[in-house]
Amino acid sequence: MEEARKKVILSGIKPSGNLTLGSYLGAIKNWVDLADEYECYYMLADLHAITVRQNPAELRKRTLSQLAQYIACGLDPEKNTLFIQSHVPAHAQLGWVLDCYTMFGELSRMTQFKDKSAKNADNINAGLVTYPSLRAADILLYQADLVPVGEDQKQHVEITRDIAHRFNTLYGDVFTMPEPFIPKTGARIMSLQNPENKMSKSEEDNGGCILMMNKPEDIMRYFKRAVTDSETGRCVYYDKEKKPGVSNLMQIYASCTGKSFETIEAEFDGLGYGAFKTAVGEAVVETLRPIREKAEELLRDKAYLESIYRDGAARASRTAERTLAKVYRKVGFVQR
Ligand code: TYM
Repeated sequence: MEEARKKVILSGIKPSGNLTLGSYLGAIKNWVDLADEYECYYMLADLHAITVRQNPAELRKRTLSQLAQYIACGLDPEKNTLFIQSHVPAHAQLGWVLDCYTMFGELSRMTQFKDKSAKNADNINAGLVTYPSLRAADILLYQADLVPVGEDQKQHVEITRDIAHRFNTLYGDVFTMPEPFIPKTGARIMSLQNPENKMSKSEEDNGGCILMMNKPEDIMRYFKRAVTDSETGRCVYYDKEKKPGVSNLMQIYASCTGKSFETIEAEFDGLGYGAFKTAVGEAVVETLRPIREKAEELLRDKAYLESIYRDGAARASRTAERTLAKVYRKVGFVQR
């Protein structure tokens, strides 16, 4: 009997900065367990990275390092298709077609465009505006059913659905309608210095952000300096509104140890913030240590990494080119 088609998952991370504890706990960690149940594609979204100016040598280095980290986190390249986005030309090709089925009004309403153009006022390039149609292409090329994204990125899946619906209405069922997939344990990790903001690559220098490849002594230093609050009693309990710093640290500790918030509250009852911050730092050090060591080992074996991304590109291309050929036929291009 023919096996039922596995549902398809696609996600990716831009190699525009080093991977953070947020990218791990909020995304990659949750991807690892999906491989048996789903057909999974994870890309290194380098085409997206250049909407903001990059140093070319660093971009290349970070892309390879990110691939090594994906594998070190437990993404088995046999079970998951791991690939570099620019190695699969169908992304840029479908991206252009979808640009012509995406409305300027829709693009200008995207919050990410508003944020990024405010931050990069001297480089508001067309790629920043049309980024969502390339992102739609990323997803639709693989006929993805599910897109694991953080809460903050739901709007991107919404616009992908709008574009797919518009295209399907004109040409029949070409694209699968993707759904956002927000994993149950997917945590939103906040900055250690500004716990109202998401932990992000842009805070590499101020101690607000932990990088996956940080050394243990740096991780401990950043956690010891983490912002908490001045509540009397210095009690460890979860209240995102009143105690964003402590709640974020609890979330990190819970994600790294698997402990519940109640267990954590009991564990640090009466101990104050100092002991708590040290324990969170140590839990993060032990979570990241094997990943960093494995990634460092993989990075010494360039031939192995090359074989992985070549194989990934070949596998991804096979699926992507099938969709692209169908799209080209539908819009009326003469077959080559
Ligand atoms: P990027 O690189 O901004 O973020 C990658 C993923 O990591 C999650 N993430 C976090 N989760 C929790 N807490 C944090 N502090 C944190 N920081 C990052 C994000 O929610 C995201 O899931 N546009 C995408 C890349 C992309 C893509 C796609 C994703 C391109 N095409 C198609 C899915 C489908 C991006 O900018 O990721």
